Amino acid sequence: MPRFRAAYVRFARFRTVARSTATSAHRQVMDLCRTVACFVQDGSVSRSKAALMFRQVAALTIGICLGVAIQLADAMAGGRSPPTGETHPADVVLARRVLMAGIGRNMDEISGMIEAAFNLQEGREHADLISTMLLAFPHLFPVETNTWSEKLAHDDPAHVSLALPTVWQDYDDFVARAQQASQTALDASFAATAEQFRALAKDLQRACDSCHQAYRRP
Ligand code: HEC
Repeated sequence: MPRFRAAYVRFARFRTVARSTATSAHRQVMDLCRTVACFVQDGSVSRSKAALMFRQVAALTIGICLGVAIQLADAMAGGRSPPTGETHPADVVLARRVLMAGIGRNMDEISGMIEAAFNLQEGREHADLISTMLLAFPHLFPVETNTWSEKLAHDDPAHVSLALPTVWQDYDDFVARAQQASQTALDASFAATAEQFRALAKDLQRACDSCHQAYRRP
């Protein structure tokens, strides 16, 4: 299961806990009321004693309700990831596409420069930027952003995702590829010679291409 599924699992668990706590509290209060009512009916408890017992039940009810409320507040405060993917999937798609386009621009610079003599320091800086961006990229894929359709591609080409459904089917591999490519870019950012840099830049280009083949619409 993809790791970001954890948010939904947590949310489902929070709802189950809330429901079962409320049910068991309701059961306890009803049991107590029934017991007190029985005592009064068979005359084993005086009316004033019964009133006291009902007051105790009321106090208990308030206590249990407060407990449930605190538990709910706890779950709501700490239990959820920001739901941007659910509420604004198109924003997330746009963000990751802009991020990828930034990676693309830096890679174009590198590909252009390594054809001839080049400034190694400049190349290393581009590689460092690519490495940083590739590390963040795979975390911008909540399930709700699997949004490609022919209609959307036609109507709103800026916000449609070109990612293939394979991203969500094999999410661990997708993340691993991004991390591997990020590492290659990082290595390039530390290259000691132009030759080393060229070789790593070619490795990086292969990583871009093979990931696109597996996970992006042609
Ligand atoms: C882990 C897989 C992966 C790696 C590695 C990867 N990409 Fe991508 N790339 C994608 C996916 C998926 C998309 C489509 C994203 C979408 O549309 O939601 C994409 C989209 C793009 C785009 C189009 C952006 C746009 O305007 O929509 C460019 C350009 C690009 N990648 C360049 C690169 C370059 C250059 C590299 C290597 C340095 C690279 N990518 C590495 C998966 C990858």
